[in-house]
Amino acid sequence: MIEIQKRIREIAKAKDMLILAHSYQPPEIQDTADIVADSLELARRSRDSKAKKIILCGVKFMAESASILNPDKKVILPAHDAGCPMADMIDADQLREEKRKHPNAVVVAYVNSSAEVKAESDLCCTSANAAKLVASLEEDEILFVPDQYLGSWVAEQVPSKKIHLYPGFCPIHQRFTEEDILRIKGENPDAVVLCHPEAPPRIRRFADKILSTSQMIRHAQSSSETRFIILTETGIAHPLAKACPEKQFIFPDSRIKCANMGKTTLENLLEACETEELEIKVPENIRVRAEKALERMIALG
Ligand code: 13P
Ligand code: SF4
Repeated sequence: MIEIQKRIREIAKAKDMLILAHSYQPPEIQDTADIVADSLELARRSRDSKAKKIILCGVKFMAESASILNPDKKVILPAHDAGCPMADMIDADQLREEKRKHPNAVVVAYVNSSAEVKAESDLCCTSANAAKLVASLEEDEILFVPDQYLGSWVAEQVPSKKIHLYPGFCPIHQRFTEEDILRIKGENPDAVVLCHPEAPPRIRRFADKILSTSQMIRHAQSSSETRFIILTETGIAHPLAKACPEKQFIFPDSRIKCANMGKTTLENLLEACETEELEIKVPENIRVRAEKALERMIALG
């Protein structure tokens, strides 16, 4: 650890802070955090922790989820302007309009959405549990927002449900091209293709397995395969290499990076720990409604 990382760790310990980082965060941020995980585990770990303060190295919807689930804890987002373009593709008014079009549908919101959208939803899901949660619902009609691609993958997994899709998407996973994937598969015919469900179907069709970020890491650790083509944001290269130093991970295009995930720096992380100023707080009338949708997700697994 370099000096600034040691300083951050000292402050976190002294102030009873838990530092959480998403697996797309820059390597030096992941190496400073207490826990590196996917969106589902970050939500769970924030809730299970006894720490008084949570420093969320990620994007706004993750910090909001932590704040919704932990009204008594102070939640701080060091990269205060780190949003998610997909989450911004739907707001509460647009969701209310969709609900009017599908009055009998259960609303399932991917956690990559604002607190206001979660408050208008019946249930949240992440990429790790979306298919399982939709399959467990008694109702047959679902309105899935905002990610049309995660939604279409869920629809393939659970064909018995009628799923209405909203046209949101992750602009990062949208950038993969068929040409790049065909080239990289041609160069590495033995490699297993792991793909995130935010990728569009034209990319997903090349995958051997569709997995969330934490599921990819666990799969790489537990499988006997040694070479993998990874179709998701390239920040995941760091936890994959740490978890499996002897295995090889191949990325079709190293420029496929989420600019918002890259906004956390050691400098703004240190400042956030020192000043505690960059708090994310959700208005109570929205928080209590959003909490129901998030808690229902956690209860269902
Ligand atoms: P997971 O953490 O669910 O794998 O999600 C990816 C993502 O886009 C987070 O922004
Ligand atoms: Fe949003 Fe995509 Fe970035 Fe995740 S990778 S934060 S979904 S823009």
